[in-house]
Amino acid sequence: MWSGPRPTVVIGDPQVAHDLLHLKPIIFGSRPRFVVMGELFAKNGLLLTMPYGPKFTATKRMMNMSLVARDLNAHAVQEAESKKLARDLINSGYSFERHINRYVASVMMCLAYGRRIDNMDDPVLEKIYQRARYMAQLNTAGRYWAETFPLLTWIPDFLAPWKREIKRNGAASSQMLYDLAKEAEEPIGYDRAAPKSFAKNLWEKKKHEPALNLNEWEIANAAGSLFNAGSDTSSATLQTFILAMTVFPEVAAKAQEEIDRVVGHDRVPTWEDRQNLPYCRAILKETLRWRPVAVLGGNPHCSTEDYHYRGHYIPKGTAVMGNLWAIHHNEEYFVDSHRFWPERYTEPEKVQAFCKPYPNPEGHSSFGWGVRACPGKGLAEDSLFISIVRILWGFNITKARDPATKEEITPSTFSYTTGFNTKPTPFPCVFTPRSDKHREILLQDASAADEFLKGYRTG
Ligand code: HEM
Repeated sequence: MWSGPRPTVVIGDPQVAHDLLHLKPIIFGSRPRFVVMGELFAKNGLLLTMPYGPKFTATKRMMNMSLVARDLNAHAVQEAESKKLARDLINSGYSFERHINRYVASVMMCLAYGRRIDNMDDPVLEKIYQRARYMAQLNTAGRYWAETFPLLTWIPDFLAPWKREIKRNGAASSQMLYDLAKEAEEPIGYDRAAPKSFAKNLWEKKKHEPALNLNEWEIANAAGSLFNAGSDTSSATLQTFILAMTVFPEVAAKAQEEIDRVVGHDRVPTWEDRQNLPYCRAILKETLRWRPVAVLGGNPHCSTEDYHYRGHYIPKGTAVMGNLWAIHHNEEYFVDSHRFWPERYTEPEKVQAFCKPYPNPEGHSSFGWGVRACPGKGLAEDSLFISIVRILWGFNITKARDPATKEEITPSTFSYTTGFNTKPTPFPCVFTPRSDKHREILLQDASAADEFLKGYRTG
């Protein structure tokens, strides 16, 4: 595609994406210029839009080094929050989305800042969402001429009110992220020690490991990007999982057989069960493949050198997108690609005769490629896995009925929101505890989780 003076390459084949974005990570690991959002608003402090170079490498290293589950007490948080989620779902009626959103938001806030979200009206959330909305509109194609003609950014501020407004909002937003990160170290009006968190750990590293040369605004930006990049993506994936279980009940039933065999009815699944639940692990993979959140692979990559590939010339500065929708529905690799079919992963011999082998061992590319691959992958998979197996252990998910006609409502598996990240449009379904005993255990577990979560402040 040509948009403006430079070409954009959109890849729809898994092998081509792998060859270029994964196997040539330095050549295809940069980002195109994000003049308004990346440069003017965020002063190049956002990892997501940072071009490849020493600053990117240092920031990515800081992210990878700090997103270790053990250092964030992540498993305990995900475990406790998933128990609360199960209790919320018992009473969810037809509408579960706000409970999923709360679960994901609370996990991300605990990990980033050591504070939790008890309900979606928390004023901190509103500030963060406001920032995200503002950034999204800065990034809307065609909204600012400066995106197409970057020379316009040289106009002095006093002659460009649009620039002044963006910079003013950028400064206010940085300050908000800084205050949140600082509070993770010294919570105001809180009489307990601050729990482990990404921001707190980095302040400590800054104090005790000067060689790392950590800058306080970088710490604030990095913690801020965790929530932005991790919450909507994880929530959308869980909603897709629920959609799949509603529409493909035979898959849920097979997973429940596995869980009953491995875990039984007397306790909920834990981390230790993961290795013995291959079908449940495959459901997570299939969810990520079937309806990838980042339909176009997230922000585009950008080439830093001229490159020749299979007879094509790709000039330096070309934007390259891995079109995940096309890649994950490429029938040469995924036969009957719109069928939600975890057996692709558990019984590969069934599909091998019809399909080419996927170029990476994961069997999907939902977390991106090469040096730009998602640094939150491990945390996201953990959050998703523990909530998925507990939902399957505790509930039957069934289609809702139309109150007037009493007919079952089958939600569309193609009705998704538009945009770079997508999620199912709201659909009704019913969560019914599998038995009184299951219900009782879910309620008891949630009370125990409340105790643990008192270590995290709210509001
Ligand atoms: C289901 C959940 C998630 C999905 C599907 C997802 C997917 C992605 C994708 C596709 C990219 C772009 C990769 C590329 O350019 O090749 C990305 C980047 C990123 N993700 Fe995630 N992500 C998820 C959760 C998370 C979480 C929980 C965090 C933080 C803890 C996170 C932090 C980031 C960051 C900071 C980047 C930018 C990396 C860069 O530009 O180098 N993500 N993610």
